[in-house]
Amino acid sequence: MDKKRIEKELNSQLNNEFFSSYLYLAMAAYCDSISLPGFANWMRSQAQEELFHAMKFYDYILERGFKVDLLKIDQPEKEWGSPLNMFEEVLKHEQFITESINNLVNVAEEEKDHATRIFLEWFVSEQVEEEASADAVLQKLRLTGGQGSALFMIDKELSTRTFTPPATNE
Ligand code: FEO
Repeated sequence: MDKKRIEKELNSQLNNEFFSSYLYLAMAAYCDSISLPGFANWMRSQAQEELFHAMKFYDYILERGFKVDLLKIDQPEKEWGSPLNMFEEVLKHEQFITESINNLVNVAEEEKDHATRIFLEWFVSEQVEEEASADAVLQKLRLTGGQGSALFMIDKELSTRTFTPPATNE
């Protein structure tokens, strides 16, 4: 098993998860700047969820006796034109994350690192949910045109989202 390769890939995904949190926080700020507090709330919750994902990688890296390498986090965009455009980007980003998790699974399999492969199973399932929840909002925005009273209704709906980390490390 090439431990250095596994360590590097895990740290790279740690960075992806931190970037995801940064991206969604930037989207939250954008939503607040266009007076959509419900959308901002959804993005804040999503940013918290991404921090939780990042810390799962952080803990796993330490647990395996690897070194945590906190790489530079890219600066996200500041504005997305409309809530519809923003959610197109959310879905694209989650698809990118799914691909990076799948690549990591491939590396774990190539290196016969069964522990990492099993650790990643949670993320494989999580990505199905991540894409589905982004797509659900995107479809609503597309169907309604994402403007006027429809946008107001969606904003109200998104204001109810909260993020509670799972009680166990599951
Ligand atoms: Fe950590 Fe949204 O995937």
